[in-house]
Amino acid sequence: MLFFGIIGFGVFLYGCFYTLASVIFDCDVRLGFLDKFGKSPRRLKGKVAFITGASSGIGEHTAYALAKAGVKLVLTARRSLELQRVKQQCIVVSNGQLEEKDILVIPMDVLDLSSHKTHFQHAIRHFGHVDILINNAGRSQRANWENIDITVDRQMFELNVFAVVNLSRVALEHFNKRGQGHLAVVSSLAGILGAPFSGSYTGAKHAIHGYFNGLRAEKLGTQIHVTLLCPGPTFTNFLAEAFTDKDGEKHHGSTKPTDKRMTAERCGHLNAVAIVNKVGEAWMGLFPLMPMVYVSIYFPNLYSLGMRILGPQYLYKLRDSKEYTGFTEMSKTE
Ligand SMILES: NC(=O)c1ccc[n+]([C@@H]2O[C@H](COP(=O)([O-])OP(=O)(O)OC[C@H]3O[C@@H](n4cnc5c(N)ncnc54)[C@H](OP(=O)(O)O)[C@@H]3O)[C@@H](O)[C@H]2O)c1
Repeated sequence: MLFFGIIGFGVFLYGCFYTLASVIFDCDVRLGFLDKFGKSPRRLKGKVAFITGASSGIGEHTAYALAKAGVKLVLTARRSLELQRVKQQCIVVSNGQLEEKDILVIPMDVLDLSSHKTHFQHAIRHFGHVDILINNAGRSQRANWENIDITVDRQMFELNVFAVVNLSRVALEHFNKRGQGHLAVVSSLAGILGAPFSGSYTGAKHAIHGYFNGLRAEKLGTQIHVTLLCPGPTFTNFLAEAFTDKDGEKHHGSTKPTDKRMTAERCGHLNAVAIVNKVGEAWMGLFPLMPMVYVSIYFPNLYSLGMRILGPQYLYKLRDSKEYTGFTEMSKTE
């Protein structure tokens, strides 16, 4: 009896500790501990990382976090001038660890799947090999689910899913030959929680989890690692570029310094910590997002009840730091 009492008390303490830690940390509890006590990104020094969407936001700041650690970089996106700016900044923050030849800029549209192999081989020719692929390029969406044109659903899946899957297969061919490699994908908390007013985006990010959890299960016991990086709201240009419900339209949303968002710098650092520690899935976000994700996974009924009480407008405000007033009105005011 005493034995079961001790086990029960231990479980209770563990639960209390996790609840408290999830309130304090800006990431899941495991990642928070790895950030303080795990391997430092410096352990990646000398490795080669290929990053998509490195010209701004989370991709740019992941590049800086890796450059600080002395990781050689392949920076890709469509805007080559921005990539050159990021390259020069990477050299500065590397503090003498990286020079011009250690950072390769490849202008690349990830939607051109037929070019993936050529670009990846360019990186292999330059560095001899690639150790890590970070699939980060992507765009969000703001729209009412029922209004979304199916063309927009297709375009979101082309960018946020099929481009990622295709480039990852190209990288895997190389990783399989070497017997090692690391595939990281920037997903989103929207890939775990159902985010309202982003139907195709939420669908695309959930699809990413399906694809890469499946791959991880195939590669168990090998030296090929898969990491899903799931940020919550982060200060980037994301809302300006987001899809709406109509083909060819952008949301043109903006952020304010007072918004409740993580900085792209912090997100880039946490991405580097998750990669060096070979975490399978990492969550990042300011309070109350972490406790919400834990509740949604461990107590789904409680989460549904909470969401029924709070309503979709609550999640919208949590995500965009403003009241939901409908998208036609918003596009007039922004
Ligand atoms: N910001 C957030 O709140 C948030 C939250 C959760 C997840 N995320 C995820 O974070 C990732 C990066 O987004 P971000 O917030 O950093 O936004 P961002 O600043 O707009 O960056 C998006 C990046 O993707 C690139 N990109 C877009 N379309 C591309 C294409 N067709 N080909 C090549 N590159 C392309 C852009 O570069 P070019 O325009 O130069 O091509 C840019 O570098 C996305 O996967 C997003 O889903 C963001």
